[in-house]
Amino acid sequence: MKRYHVTTFGCQMNEHDSERMKGMLESLGYREAPDADVADLILFNTCSIREAADSRFKAHLGHAKRRKRERPEVVIGVGGCWAQSVKDEVFEQFPFVDVAFGPGQVHKLAEFLTSESLTAQGYFEFEGFTGDLPEKRAREFQGWTQISVGCNMACSYCIVPSTRGRDVGRPLGVLVADVERMASEGVTEVTLLGQNVNAYGRDLHRRGFPSATFADLLSAVDAIDGIRRIRYTSPHPQDMKEDVIRAHAELEALCEHVHLPLQSGSSRVLKAMRRTYSRERYLDRVALLREHVPDVAITTDIIVGFPGETDEDFAQTLSLCEEVAYDGAFTFVYSPRRETEAATLPDQVPHEVKVERMDRLVEVIQRRAKERAQRFVGRTVEVLVEGPSRTDPTRLRGRSRHNKVVNFSGLAQPGDYVHVDVESATSQTLMGEESLLARAGAR
Ligand code: SAH
Ligand code: SF4
Ligand code: F3S
Repeated sequence: MKRYHVTTFGCQMNEHDSERMKGMLESLGYREAPDADVADLILFNTCSIREAADSRFKAHLGHAKRRKRERPEVVIGVGGCWAQSVKDEVFEQFPFVDVAFGPGQVHKLAEFLTSESLTAQGYFEFEGFTGDLPEKRAREFQGWTQISVGCNMACSYCIVPSTRGRDVGRPLGVLVADVERMASEGVTEVTLLGQNVNAYGRDLHRRGFPSATFADLLSAVDAIDGIRRIRYTSPHPQDMKEDVIRAHAELEALCEHVHLPLQSGSSRVLKAMRRTYSRERYLDRVALLREHVPDVAITTDIIVGFPGETDEDFAQTLSLCEEVAYDGAFTFVYSPRRETEAATLPDQVPHEVKVERMDRLVEVIQRRAKERAQRFVGRTVEVLVEGPSRTDPTRLRGRSRHNKVVNFSGLAQPGDYVHVDVESATSQTLMGEESLLARAGAR
């Protein structure tokens, strides 16, 4: 029996693509190896969102090269966004790679493995969503489904439109059937994935499918038996309309958490980023969300040091973060990406300035997140148990509907929903004890 090993970099979409790669390999008779050292097929599912992602992966590839030297029969494959961004140059840069494929070409890996081909092969077409591949889920009770591939936005810093192609939505009926199947296999929490999820559906009618909006999709998934929690990522502030916001208040399974990427608090920088909304419009979305779902958790993504970002622009980002008081944020130092517009802009911000701004931003984000998290202290929250705590194996770890990590003592099993009395809170984590009185309706 042949064995494979997959190393995944990047976002949830890549994690999900890796699950589909694994599912496909298992259907070909491969089994997962505990370690790349003993695998017959070593795969990397790559990311290229920032320079650091590229370097991390290249370090891993160095190990793979050594393994190939020791065991020349090993097959080395490189998939994902980095592979797509360099295409056939993969083979020039790394001659020991046997097969390379973009994010939309996962299914071609099977073609390669079942062919007699002895020469290196690259697959980099954009074909829309290809292959309803059987996924091998990391946790049986949590599932992902990709609602659309690609991205039609043109954020000037971002490599994704060139690595994942145009946005192509999967028909609503197909998605509902996919979630129904997962629910019948024991999934209770589903995450809908896309680069701009709330633009979902715009292309369906033109392609001959019944039209649907993202809000329609949310209601359809909410109605599926067995689905207790729905999450999605990422929405775009431009397309965050009232129907989706209302859905958070109305649909029982839709969680009280929205990840709403900001990128910058300065309208001038947002314009240079081609984000298509202003600071005011963003704040207005936050206000509307809080009007309908007062307790909603809001998280975000922010880039510091975008070309031309002045002290004044950065001060606007800080003041917006003070004002919104996010429940959490992913903060990134701007990283120039090949063939993006922003990489060619003058006024690239010096590294020391980026680092100094990052420190100040993280201070604000953490302080506000910690303050906001105190609202859960004394409350009983519903937790989906994921496993033992990472820091203390005698305790358990799970997530609340607000997507807070909850560390608690109790006897529950992974996949269980329990109620936890929250005793304390840091910026990232809630701590507590499993509630003895299971209080229905705890949020
Ligand atoms: N489609 C999603 C995000 C995709 S990438 C969205 O638009 O929200 C995830 C995050 O990486 C982005 O939100 C952005 O904050 C960050 N990012 C993307 N390109 C970057 C770059 N060149 N440098 C630094 N951060 C970047
Ligand atoms: Fe990149 Fe913008 Fe598309 Fe997000 S919306 S993937 S940041 S181009
Ligand atoms: Fe995701 Fe990285 Fe591609 S963040 S979309 S894997 S470039």
